[in-house]
Amino acid sequence: MSFRALSQALTEKLSRVRIIPVLSFHDSEEALRLGEILMESGLCAAEVTFRTEAAEGAIRALRKAYPGLCLGAGTVLSVEQLTRAMDAGAEFAVAPGLNPEVVRGAVERDFAFAPGVCTPSEIELAYSLGCVTMKFFPAEAAGGLTLLKAMSAPYKHLGIRFMPTGGVTTANAAAYLGVKEVVAVGGTWLAKAEDMAAGKWDLIRQNVVAAAQLIQSLEK
Ligand code: 3PG
Repeated sequence: MSFRALSQALTEKLSRVRIIPVLSFHDSEEALRLGEILMESGLCAAEVTFRTEAAEGAIRALRKAYPGLCLGAGTVLSVEQLTRAMDAGAEFAVAPGLNPEVVRGAVERDFAFAPGVCTPSEIELAYSLGCVTMKFFPAEAAGGLTLLKAMSAPYKHLGIRFMPTGGVTTANAAAYLGVKEVVAVGGTWLAKAEDMAAGKWDLIRQNVVAAAQLIQSLEK
């Protein structure tokens, strides 16, 4: 499959999950605990960020325990991290920004990768490298839906789809998901690192269930 086809397949994959928790784990045990909540609540997606040393182990543990989980790696800033994410069992990777070296590494390895963009120039560069699925980061701080709609308008004919993250919460997720160009949204609000560390699993479950209900309500 060409890299562009892989990027299109990523759009389809993300369009089935719609909301993706962006996660920073302290250890694999924490990841498994959250994985159980995600699977039980029907929000079967996770972006495990390489912001902690535990990322690779967490991806491996989640892949083994929950084969049905749509599992991506986040904050992938180097080809080395990309390779580790792939080997651990991630299905795709994303990053906050656009590093052509990482995109080329993904192309060489036939691995779905969505870089982050927040300007037209970045969209054009990402597209020229083969990407049609892109993260829109930092969504709210950069200008939110107003910016995304204006910025994506000239590229409508290219079939580019965006995953906004950065300031997305239950309060604005539905508005983002109501826009055709938005394939899914992501965010840390569902399971914050400090809440997992503090053992606030009931709060996290409530957040995850609310997100799953929101997705269901959008499908009606
Ligand atoms: C990301 O990497 O997608 C962001 O850190 C998510 O931003 P948030 O913390 O505002 O959800």
